[in-house]
Amino acid sequence: MSRKNLPLLREITIESIAAEGKAVAHVDGQVVFVPYCVPGDVADLQVTRKKHSFMEARVERVVKPSDKRCEAVCKHYGVCGGCKWQILPYSEQLRWKQQQVTDNLVRIGKVELPEIEPILGSEAVYGYRNKLEFTFADHKWLTAEQMREKVPFEPGLGFHIPNCFDKVLDIEECHLMPEVNNRLRNRVRTYAIAEGMTFYNEHTHEGMLRTLIVRMNDAGEVMVVVVFGEDMNEKSRGLMAMIQSEFEEVVSLWYCVNKKMNDTIGDQELVLYAGKDHLIETMEELRFKIRPKSFYQTNTRQALRLYEVAREFAGLKGKETVYDLYTGTGTIAQFVARQARQVIGIEYVEDAIEDARLNAQMNGIDNVRFFAGDMKDILTREFISEQGQPDVVITDPPRAGMHEDVVKVLLEAAPKRIVYVSCNPATQARDVNLLAADYAVRRVQPVDMFPQTQHVENVVLMERENA
Ligand SMILES: C[S@@+](CC[C@H](N)C(=O)[O-])C[C@H]1O[C@@H](n2cnc3c(N)ncnc32)[C@H](O)[C@@H]1O
Repeated sequence: MSRKNLPLLREITIESIAAEGKAVAHVDGQVVFVPYCVPGDVADLQVTRKKHSFMEARVERVVKPSDKRCEAVCKHYGVCGGCKWQILPYSEQLRWKQQQVTDNLVRIGKVELPEIEPILGSEAVYGYRNKLEFTFADHKWLTAEQMREKVPFEPGLGFHIPNCFDKVLDIEECHLMPEVNNRLRNRVRTYAIAEGMTFYNEHTHEGMLRTLIVRMNDAGEVMVVVVFGEDMNEKSRGLMAMIQSEFEEVVSLWYCVNKKMNDTIGDQELVLYAGKDHLIETMEELRFKIRPKSFYQTNTRQALRLYEVAREFAGLKGKETVYDLYTGTGTIAQFVARQARQVIGIEYVEDAIEDARLNAQMNGIDNVRFFAGDMKDILTREFISEQGQPDVVITDPPRAGMHEDVVKVLLEAAPKRIVYVSCNPATQARDVNLLAADYAVRRVQPVDMFPQTQHVENVVLMERENA
């Protein structure tokens, strides 16, 4: 069916929220997924995709708003792909996140569950991120309305439209990070345009300016990385000098010349233009050095609460061997190290492991060992017999969850406890179901790291039965 012939569904009541944060309605027994509306809304929906078992639609008109709706804070709401849940009050966001965790554990996990503890909400519901990355584009993306108003094509600096590598929405305000991100980005854009600097084109791979990365620690110190697509010249040096002189909160200023086809800078050389080569983030008495390529949880304050839950669930008495799987820069490993005999951290990003070792040294922690490599290749029977049988395993895998082979090795290794931290309740529930062969779920604690979005973090404690 051509898109033109897709139906307009009139006065449909939105019922609930599904995975990926889309709202759900039913029409003639068929499920309809629709973004940017909330349960209780009555809306006219334009179908955009029709499949045998479901439809996708967009809101054409809200006929009667739900009493659960609130005003979006951001002027870019609905166009920028982030923060889809701004129109839901925070208490409702938390209620749906709790529900998402429960539904996944019930439907996919299919295990006996204890009472799920109330989700730990974030005190800051805006301004909580410590890192944002903006992209320069020689033609900013225009909405249909802007096209009708004949807004001219101009360079832009902002976020990618979801799933579109070449469409960049010019961002004037982002509320996810403290306000300095807005001053910086908007000043860089104005300066670059005034100086006639070219913005990158993803098709021709030409242009002087590619990306702008802004990071900030809890103390309010800022790190900036400007990524150029061409060798440094007078204009690019002028831009760096402007940031240095106008932004006193920028204590670490870097640039990178990236002439590759893609924007990732993990494999590129970074040059320190001015200031320190790192920021320091603190957590309890621990200090973590954040370099431009270092991974660090993006919501610093909620990361502390997440780690506190993981440590409490681990129930350490000081004699245990703990494995911290998918350790990143070793933050959880160091967070629990003083309560354990030894901690072993595994992670496949070598730079992250280098950071983990440096940070452990800086923190005077000498009972952690870090290994770099793919989990399924490193965590083998031989590795465990060399490094010691784990009493407790803390695992914090990426969204895809754990590889089947890793789950098998865990079952064989038979630690007393497994603390499973996850940013994807569906894959977590799948893995919990596999681990349930020998383990019972004792505690479940959701934590909200990402207010205004559908994402939720969840911690599950599993204990070995008949151990
Ligand atoms: C959700 S993060 C956890 C980070 C860390 N626990 C923390 O709190 O900062 C998942 C980590 O798993 C790593 N990772 C992803 N796939 C992996 C694999 N197959 N083997 C080892 N590590 C992997 C990623 O690089 C990332 O650092």
